[in-house]
Amino acid sequence: IPVDPFDLVIFGGTGDLARRKILPGLFRRFCAGQMPPEARIIGAARSDIDVAAFRAMVAEATQEFGGGFTCETGTLEAFLEQIDYVAIDARGDQGWAELQEKMSGKGRVEAYYFSVSPALFGDLAERLQKWGMADQDARIVVEKPFGRDLETAQTLNATLATYFDEHQIYRIDHYLGKETVQNLMAVRFGNMLFEPLWNAQYVDHIQITVAETVGVGGRGEYYDKSGAMRDMVQNHLMQLLCLIAMEPPARFDPDAVRDEKLKVIRALDPVLPHHIIRGQYQAEPMNEANAPGYRTAVGDARSRTESFIALKTHISNWRWAGTPFYLRTGKRMSARSSEITVVFKETPHSIFAEDAGRHRNVLSIRLQPNEGITLGVTIKEPGPGGMRLVDVPLDMTFADALGEEGADQVDAYERLIMDVIRGNQTLFMRGDEVEAAWAWTDPIIEGWEARNDVPKPYDSGSDGPTDSTELMRRDGREWRKVS
Ligand code: BG6
Repeated sequence: IPVDPFDLVIFGGTGDLARRKILPGLFRRFCAGQMPPEARIIGAARSDIDVAAFRAMVAEATQEFGGGFTCETGTLEAFLEQIDYVAIDARGDQGWAELQEKMSGKGRVEAYYFSVSPALFGDLAERLQKWGMADQDARIVVEKPFGRDLETAQTLNATLATYFDEHQIYRIDHYLGKETVQNLMAVRFGNMLFEPLWNAQYVDHIQITVAETVGVGGRGEYYDKSGAMRDMVQNHLMQLLCLIAMEPPARFDPDAVRDEKLKVIRALDPVLPHHIIRGQYQAEPMNEANAPGYRTAVGDARSRTESFIALKTHISNWRWAGTPFYLRTGKRMSARSSEITVVFKETPHSIFAEDAGRHRNVLSIRLQPNEGITLGVTIKEPGPGGMRLVDVPLDMTFADALGEEGADQVDAYERLIMDVIRGNQTLFMRGDEVEAAWAWTDPIIEGWEARNDVPKPYDSGSDGPTDSTELMRRDGREWRKVS
């Protein structure tokens, strides 16, 4: 179903994110017939290039990052026709009159994507207002990092609030756009089966792992000032935690959902120092040239920034009191795998002989790759050997279960951009949520800074420092295998 006609301005239109995600994503939506022919995408950036050069760049980006599919409902040329470009100076006056003129069409959705450094958010917002483009219907989309601590996030929120109302601000966390992340809500709130068990009485613990095989690559300068806590935990993992732990919202609407997520963040306990393991990857043995260690990659032989973090926390409310939540994320781990695992408690009493074995139900929700849900169920081991119990997976890999539709998943960015055009903020973070998340992370970071904590080295291709395994073992538990 096509969305309403729109004008989407991408500030930072020649940048990395635009080339990798935003523009190829829009092309895919175009090919899916969702982008109306009147829609326009206007790249805006500092580069003094003309429309033809920008279109050539877009063409190249869609080829390189478009996912190698054939566009059945149109041609790349037709898509490029809908693309425009303005060379603009975010801090000066150059280009603004031209942009204003292009945006003067009435009755269209107007969206401005700030795919630029957060240092420019205020300048862009101010100029949009000055040039009459910040009216009540305009929407702005802002990227992470949204601040680097509570104070900077508050300042950013206050700056944006000078020019835009909260209902106009779309703070992206691309994890919320992932298919399975939304499925998490469908599974929890669309089935009778799980929700009655979804609490401390029946759940032993929950673990969330986002493992990556990539290193910091060319983003060393940014990453070394952030680390895994700011880059991943404060946003992506925190959002996953909220969705898995929140109370059922009354409706699937933006504020109902975000109110519930906010309550989870506010109920999070502070993390004790011995419940945090920080790590930093080392070069792959014999392969230093191709896959350098973290410190070489960021060009600082003494860097203390973590590329891995594992932590244990609790949510102090009626539903979850006493249930540990373990979070883990890192770069250069053994496999790319994001998974949320709910480990249920053992049955209160076993009617079988002691050597029959005992198992726990484990529900694992795989976000990527091979999106799907698996529920470990205990059954009798087949055969004549008497009553022995085994654990078998009830496996639902979406690509298998749903055929083509399951496999042909919409990329997170595509979905989120279309949500902006539709005016649906459910999958975007509200200002108070982001601030609450920083309010929880700040003391953790301050704590390790005060302790002069040095991250533990771990080998590239491993699953983090051994202390992370120990964190679980101390509690008689273990991490799910990263695979
Ligand atoms: C980004 C982080 O937000 O998410 C990156 O800045 C990380 O460091 C990326 O690699 C992971 O996203 P995905 O979709 O590949 O899991």
